[in-house]
Amino acid sequence: MKTLVIYYSFEGDTKIIGDTIADDFDADVLELKLEKDVESKDYMKKYLGEKQVLMKTKPLLKPYDIKINDYDLLFIGTPIWSGTYAPAIRSFFSNEKIEGKKIALFYCFTVKRGRISKHMTKALKGNEIVDEIGFKDPLQQDKGSVMERLKRWLSEIKANLTKK
Ligand SMILES: Cc1cc2nc3c(=O)[nH]c(=O)nc-3n(C[C@H](O)[C@H](O)[C@H](O)COP(=O)(O)O)c2cc1C
Repeated sequence: MKTLVIYYSFEGDTKIIGDTIADDFDADVLELKLEKDVESKDYMKKYLGEKQVLMKTKPLLKPYDIKINDYDLLFIGTPIWSGTYAPAIRSFFSNEKIEGKKIALFYCFTVKRGRISKHMTKALKGNEIVDEIGFKDPLQQDKGSVMERLKRWLSEIKANLTKK
């Protein structure tokens, strides 16, 4: 099953999870990058990011040459911003027609997941969501436990995919 890991990461948490998944699944990686990312001091960047979410902004993504239709299984990861996916993911969903895929979702957040599952399921209608997982600021947790939990989740996904 050809697998692609797609993610956006602002501060590196989602990246470490995404890159580990790609390693484990021997998958290709599409790290979404913005032409112009939120740049400012700490307290402002949260405000500016939240404003983008509120305005449902679709910031311009840097070009990539990966074709989503070449893949059967997608892992899609995002930091949670104001209870939903980051604006870069909104741009990605609007640029791509994603249909008939198996999709596993991963999130990073600080406090709570909010309504991310609902928003993702809505945006990815026409696909099969095989599973999802959330990590609280993984870069600030014990790396061993984060990786153990992630590997366990990946094994469950593999087992379920081969059962079908
Ligand atoms: C603009 C912005 C909005 C955020 N909103 C939320 C939120 O609603 N709930 C939450 O638990 N964490 C929120 N966070 C924290 C991030 O989701 C969290 O730090 C995540 O681990 C960052 O992932 P990253 O390092 O891949 O960017 C927000 C962070 C930013 C910058």
